[in-house]
Amino acid sequence: MNTTTDTIQTLPVLALKNTVLFPQLFMPLSAGRKASMAAVEAALATEEKTLVLVAQRDASVEETGAADLYTIGTRAVIKKVNRTEAGVELLVQGLERVALVRVEQTEPYLKARVRPLPLPEDGGPEVEALFRATVELAGRALELTEARGQFNVAQLVEQAQEPLRLTYLLGSLLALDVAKEQGLLEADTRLEALRLLYGHLSHEVQVLELRHKIASTAANEMTQQQREYVLRRQMEAIRQELGEKEPEKAEAEELRQRLAEADLPDDVRKEAERELRKLERLPAAAPDFQVTRAYLELVLELPWRKSEAAPIDLAHARRILDEDHYGLDDVKERILEHLAVLKLNPKANAPILCLVGPPGVGKTSLGRSIARALGRKFERMSLGGMHDEAELRGHRRTYIGAMPGRVLQAVRRAGVNNPLLMLDEVDKLGRDFRGDPAAALLEILDPAQNDTFRDNYLDLPFDLSKVFFITTANALDTVPRPLLDRMEILRLSGYSEEEKVQIARRYLLPRRLAEAGLTAEQLHVPDETVRRLIARYTREAGVRELERHLGRAARKVARRFAEGRTEPVTIGPEDLTDLLGPERFRPERGRQTLEPGVATGLAWTETGGEVLYIEASLVPGTRGVRLTGQLGNVMKESARAAQTYVRAHARQLGIDPELFRRAGVHVHVPAGAVPKDGPSAGVAMVTALASAYSGIAVRGDTAMTGEITLSGLVLPIGGVKEKVLAARRVGMRRVVLPRDNEQDLRDLPEEVRREMQFILAERIEEVLAATLPDLAARAQAASRN
Ligand SMILES: Nc1ncnc2c1ncn2[C@@H]1O[C@H](COP(=O)(O)OP(=O)(O)OP(=O)(O)O)[C@@H](O)[C@H]1O
Ligand SMILES: [Mg+2]
Repeated sequence: MNTTTDTIQTLPVLALKNTVLFPQLFMPLSAGRKASMAAVEAALATEEKTLVLVAQRDASVEETGAADLYTIGTRAVIKKVNRTEAGVELLVQGLERVALVRVEQTEPYLKARVRPLPLPEDGGPEVEALFRATVELAGRALELTEARGQFNVAQLVEQAQEPLRLTYLLGSLLALDVAKEQGLLEADTRLEALRLLYGHLSHEVQVLELRHKIASTAANEMTQQQREYVLRRQMEAIRQELGEKEPEKAEAEELRQRLAEADLPDDVRKEAERELRKLERLPAAAPDFQVTRAYLELVLELPWRKSEAAPIDLAHARRILDEDHYGLDDVKERILEHLAVLKLNPKANAPILCLVGPPGVGKTSLGRSIARALGRKFERMSLGGMHDEAELRGHRRTYIGAMPGRVLQAVRRAGVNNPLLMLDEVDKLGRDFRGDPAAALLEILDPAQNDTFRDNYLDLPFDLSKVFFITTANALDTVPRPLLDRMEILRLSGYSEEEKVQIARRYLLPRRLAEAGLTAEQLHVPDETVRRLIARYTREAGVRELERHLGRAARKVARRFAEGRTEPVTIGPEDLTDLLGPERFRPERGRQTLEPGVATGLAWTETGGEVLYIEASLVPGTRGVRLTGQLGNVMKESARAAQTYVRAHARQLGIDPELFRRAGVHVHVPAGAVPKDGPSAGVAMVTALASAYSGIAVRGDTAMTGEITLSGLVLPIGGVKEKVLAARRVGMRRVVLPRDNEQDLRDLPEEVRREMQFILAERIEEVLAATLPDLAARAQAASRN
């Protein structure tokens, strides 16, 4: 686990009375206030289980608002929770200092944006000297206090070889008032922190010495130590009388009980017993106590031998896949093939499935569906932005705040060793100096190695070979090659309007109705309303926004019923603005007529298809090609190739070759938001250039895509379905495509195929004949002469 982050996060905030939590330290807490309990629950609902603890300026304030809190606090992770009648009891560990940047909400609990404040790291002789002096003084202070029984200075200093940690430890031991503790937390250099602490300590020592003098001169001959001993014995006797055990003993005993009952492999049991013996020797206040206990709990909770799955039944699986998802026939077919292989040969080295497609097309929900079909538990984790190998594999236990890696955590959450584990966003995996998570991932996914997967924290081999891994990605170009080789790619493309209507009617709407507590009789949403919703409120390849809007509409209607309505409701297209606010998009229209030099290209993006206009105009007195519009290198090359081609074939194309001597060309590609790279704009470039040099306009109803070679061949491209749907969306009815993409047309819904005309081209001349018919006619006439 990362103890620090460098990003701004929004987290629940818990107000602390009379105390401050320092980074790296553990602290038991109890929360009884409503807002506090809500904040704790909100934190527990997240995977990280972190929240921010900030001290109250005044402990007597009950309903704390932002103004009652200090602005610097500590991000902490919840290590243990115990819900009681009075509230919740927690064990938290401080992770890092944070500054509250903005309060986002105060109800039902405080939530704020926080920015990490790195811990000071200054050093030098002055820090060193002050550190030693502080250790000495702390020794004196501890000698004089009742903490003596529990803490031995040498031990303390050994634990805190680091000045800042010592400062924090002592700061929390000294029972300082909140303002002083806060001062320590806020100190921006170690020197300052040590100075503050040294001041408080000297004061403390003076007071203690005075008290000591008074105590020792008093008639009481019992030393402090003896008195304490007697008191402790009395306490123990009382406990025994009441049948209570010492809390740490009770905890260890409980763990021993669980260990006896757990189904563990022998070597694991041996290791667990060793740790348990260690725990029994430690006092509960020792930092190691919590660390060891957390470790034992992990060992006990991991599903070493527990699995849960139904036998693979292909007919049943197909039924479930169809029950949850509309269409996607190819993908479902491939999934069933994969399951068939697993059924026949469970040990087969089957590749990992990778679902690739734009957001909201059903990758995650397909994963859930597969899990349901197989009777397996479903867990998911996102690899997005993961840089640190340790996030996957865990940190060694010697690290402060160490935790198992995310894979093991997911298996622990699943509670069985054969869940379906979905690894989202493989394409967003990072890598840097902290190691290469992709390499770790490869090992995790490799059936030859993952039966003895070793997490750094657990430090025992764990068998991951029964886990059913599925990965997802929006695009594949950033996925490392070796990972790609291990995966079987299943592509999901965007949906056409008609498909979206079907999905809405058959799947999304019934689900959202049920969620809002409505029946199909109570709320009717006709298809034309769904169509309007798709066109005016969403712009997406998938159906996530659509589903969200349907949910909102359903909830609003549900409220009317709750308020007493009895007649059924029908939402017509004109009712949408009332329910969902003003329309967000105007219907897109393609350019009706094009100037000479402009061609309609098609681009594929991670979120679907886009129409892209390529604009070429002659610049007399210059030479060659100038490019603007933030084009990627590949697209630039394809513009140059297009120019070379048009120039070399000018005469055949019916263009005066002289022109190239007199004028260069400027190619511009507007549309700021679309990433413009890749070779697939080649045919549109050639068309735009041929149009610019001939002065003949390109047909306005025709869009085109395809890569070109210098010899005039048209090569296949990707993303056909999204591109065709984008052309259709803006009202184009003709699309020029590479001949080799013919088989991709099968992915198009029936009605799209019926409505659109496709021109499949093998060579540039065929493209130009379709896009610039007048020029082609002129060329033909010229060649006849
Ligand atoms: N073909 C479909 N039939 C029924 N529901 C669908 C279909 N495709 C998507 N959905 C629904 O759309 C919603 C969004 O899908 P999901 O969360 O699976 O998208 P995703 O592909 O995982 O997106 P992302 O890349 O953003 O993670 C879900 O509720 C899902 O059930
Ligand atoms: Mg998803």
